[in-house]
Amino acid sequence: MLENTDQDYDTPIRACTVSSDILKFDLLIEDMEALLGDAWGDLSFSEAHSFVGQADATSLEFLAIALNTQDEADADAIIELIRKAKHNDINTIIVANNITPNFLHRLLRNGANEFVPYPLPKDELKTAVQNANAAKVVTPIPQPQPMAAAPRATQGKLVAIHGLAGGVGATMLAVNLAWEAATLNPKGPNAKVCLLDLDLQFGSAATYLDLERKSSVLEMWADTEIVDADNFKQALSSYKDKLSVLTSPNELVPLDLITSEDVMRILDIARAQFDIVIVNMPQTLVTWSEAVLNEANIYLNLIDIDMRTAQNIIRLVSALQAENLPYNKLRYVLNRAPKFTDLNGKNRIKRLSDSLGITVEFSLPDGGKTVVNACDHGEPLGLASPKSPLRKEIVKLLKAILDEIEFVAKAA
Ligand SMILES: Nc1ncnc2c1ncn2[C@@H]1O[C@H](COP(=O)(O)OP(=O)(O)OP(=O)(O)O)[C@@H](O)[C@H]1O
Ligand SMILES: [Mg+2]
Repeated sequence: MLENTDQDYDTPIRACTVSSDILKFDLLIEDMEALLGDAWGDLSFSEAHSFVGQADATSLEFLAIALNTQDEADADAIIELIRKAKHNDINTIIVANNITPNFLHRLLRNGANEFVPYPLPKDELKTAVQNANAAKVVTPIPQPQPMAAAPRATQGKLVAIHGLAGGVGATMLAVNLAWEAATLNPKGPNAKVCLLDLDLQFGSAATYLDLERKSSVLEMWADTEIVDADNFKQALSSYKDKLSVLTSPNELVPLDLITSEDVMRILDIARAQFDIVIVNMPQTLVTWSEAVLNEANIYLNLIDIDMRTAQNIIRLVSALQAENLPYNKLRYVLNRAPKFTDLNGKNRIKRLSDSLGITVEFSLPDGGKTVVNACDHGEPLGLASPKSPLRKEIVKLLKAILDEIEFVAKAA
């Protein structure tokens, strides 16, 4: 039965735990009390199923669903509960005691907002509740909006790069892919390539290539409606006359300064003028992430082997792989991958991809000091360290994705 844990029945219930036996999760009881005082109740799974559909339940802030190994047998019913809660705008937080990564991944894929391991690390429940609330305010990926489908004169290929954790190497990859694309053919004509740094706050493409951040970049974003091909060109910086770069603005701006419409306009203008457009995405999902994913030919997600980032990654992967999105464009690239001779490393890659429910299609080696040196010189690896294994793998990656885009275009 739904009961306040205390005898004070006047306190409105703000959240509930759901478990087959709450006494097995005594630390959760403590944390719920610390967070909510008496304003929470405890439900069994069957009680939760009937309660979540009721009008009373809509005032609930969250369900903390506490699971252990045995609960996996009831996976379908638990998923159903999560979906129902989501439908009624109630956040769900999984409190996971030794459940398998696959089970956890299914729960997150089906709408669970957060997970915390059990025994609960200090303040983890509080953080998860805050994260889930924050995600509610800034919906990571909004519902699909009708996209303008007007045919364009020319349409450059669009490749987006998104680092799923901070510092995972997204900008390094974006900059080097762009440079290699612009210089792929050393003797003959080359593709016209533009690198767009859409990581408006922390975009460091300018640093990698030692370019100044022009004030016209911010002016352009501030009013995209009046931007035409010429204004766009003015905001671009040229790197060695081979690569055009739209750096991030010279001032710190909020990520929601721009809307999907702004991004679409600029992507359209860029694609009309360039053969290949490479986009450096911010790590956070933003209201316009979906626009880029919809427009992109290929959307590269960069990860690293570090499992500490897994919770974050699972959330992002679930959002990006949502059913209404073209997740067939997603490719996963593992940066600083363990060497192939490293058997233990292979197992770690397998565990990582299993737990995220993804296939890692490309791996890039650790470039060590070569990367830092190249950055210090403001040069791409193709100039600073052309023979480095990392550079060679980036060229291979570029060729593979360009071939794939070509193949998809032909098949269409
Ligand atoms: N394969 C690699 N080998 C060695 N160093 C690397 C490699 N990839 C990235 N780095 C280094 O790691 C650091 C972070 O890389 P980068 O700036 O590209 O990450 P990011 O994902 O764009 O991070 P941010 O979240 O700050 O935007 C940089 O110093 C970069 O030079
Ligand atoms: Mg970056």
